[in-house]
Amino acid sequence: MSKISSNHKRARTLDDDRDDASSADYYYAVLGGTETGILSSWFRVMEWTGQHLHSYQNKDFILEDLRLEIRQLTRQLIEVKRRMRTVGDHYREARRASNPYEFLGEGQNGGLNSLFMNRSAIKLANLDALLDWQLTIQPNFGPFRFVDLCGAPGGFSEYLMRRCVNLGVHECHGYGMSLLGGNEYGAGVAWKIGDFCDFQQRTKLKYQVCWDGSGDILDWNNVQELIATVSKDSETSKVQLVVADGGFDAQRNAEDQEGMTQKLIVCEVAAALELLDVGGTLVLKLFGFQTPVVQCVMRYLYASFERMVALKPISSRPASAERYVVFVNFRGNASNFDGQCWKNQMFLGQFVADVPTEKLDLYLGEFDRNMLVLNLKACHTMLSFMKREESWDIPELSIDADDYRLCWRLM
Ligand SMILES: C[S@@+](CC[C@H](N)C(=O)[O-])C[C@H]1O[C@@H](n2cnc3c(N)ncnc32)[C@H](O)[C@@H]1O
Repeated sequence: MSKISSNHKRARTLDDDRDDASSADYYYAVLGGTETGILSSWFRVMEWTGQHLHSYQNKDFILEDLRLEIRQLTRQLIEVKRRMRTVGDHYREARRASNPYEFLGEGQNGGLNSLFMNRSAIKLANLDALLDWQLTIQPNFGPFRFVDLCGAPGGFSEYLMRRCVNLGVHECHGYGMSLLGGNEYGAGVAWKIGDFCDFQQRTKLKYQVCWDGSGDILDWNNVQELIATVSKDSETSKVQLVVADGGFDAQRNAEDQEGMTQKLIVCEVAAALELLDVGGTLVLKLFGFQTPVVQCVMRYLYASFERMVALKPISSRPASAERYVVFVNFRGNASNFDGQCWKNQMFLGQFVADVPTEKLDLYLGEFDRNMLVLNLKACHTMLSFMKREESWDIPELSIDADDYRLCWRLM
């Protein structure tokens, strides 16, 4: 196992480094190679929450203090990112030096990406492993059916279908929708998988992209096209799993990623609620939990699923605010549910859950706080590298991709 020299650790120390930040504190241990074993999450603690679960322990934090801390950390992160932009050079090398897991998502250097079309597929595999493969539980009867929202080029779908083949699932039907042309936020990404029907080993695989309309999830007509596509080959338009990984270029370097993506998130969730079967699972990518609109959506989902967990898989870059929330065991919609009205309700912040949500607010606030600490540490590490405050070497890789291949059951 190679180790990074202690000089490197000194260079990365933050003024406000908090050893008591329960989850994000081991970033330097990971970076220094002193954490042993296979790590699948950037956070040591992975807790489910739900109305009937009492696993959430931290009662000491007052929400207002937490929110103040989040605002301060957010300002610091914006400042470091601005400084990174003025330094400019060696961004990629710095990203690699600040993240020993970077290579896992690559197609070369032994990275796992040679198995799939892109690093997103690895992220879903990583999430599925963290969840004890709950995403891909075989149905008791009928095909395994999933929808991949904002899914191009198709890495998530590729992982799900590969997993069904490996599990020997009898039939797997996947449906994808993604921006086909462009919209006000930029150009869509092209699909790398198209419609097909095929037998692989014992599994019948069927995949269909929704080509009708523009694929833009912001437009409800497209969601209706998708619902029609999904219901075409079954009596129901319902599926067991919805994954929603929407994002666009303009948001990637924005200072307010959460605000910029909230409309997309509301539209993804509205579509997911229309498509999910009772008992189903939703995987949703988000960039923060602090805007009133996102908080409104989270409260709704908290009340609509049995339990949820926020995750930062190790395959997701530590400098990025991206995180995934997995909601399990959908309770179903009210009989008069209408996705389009629901979207307006969320945009106006007009939802009051009929269950207490203080526990959820603390859970999300604490996750945001820990994420910001992780982002800050990673960005400071990158900045030090870019400024060459010390003579940096890119650390020798101490991680064996084959261990992960086995651990995440990638075949
Ligand atoms: C991070 S990529 C998804 C990667 C995908 N999960 C995979 O595994 O390959 C984000 C996707 O969101 C899509 N997207 C962004 N805005 C969208 C919108 N308004 N409607 C539909 N798709 C959108 C982008 O075009 C892009 O394909």
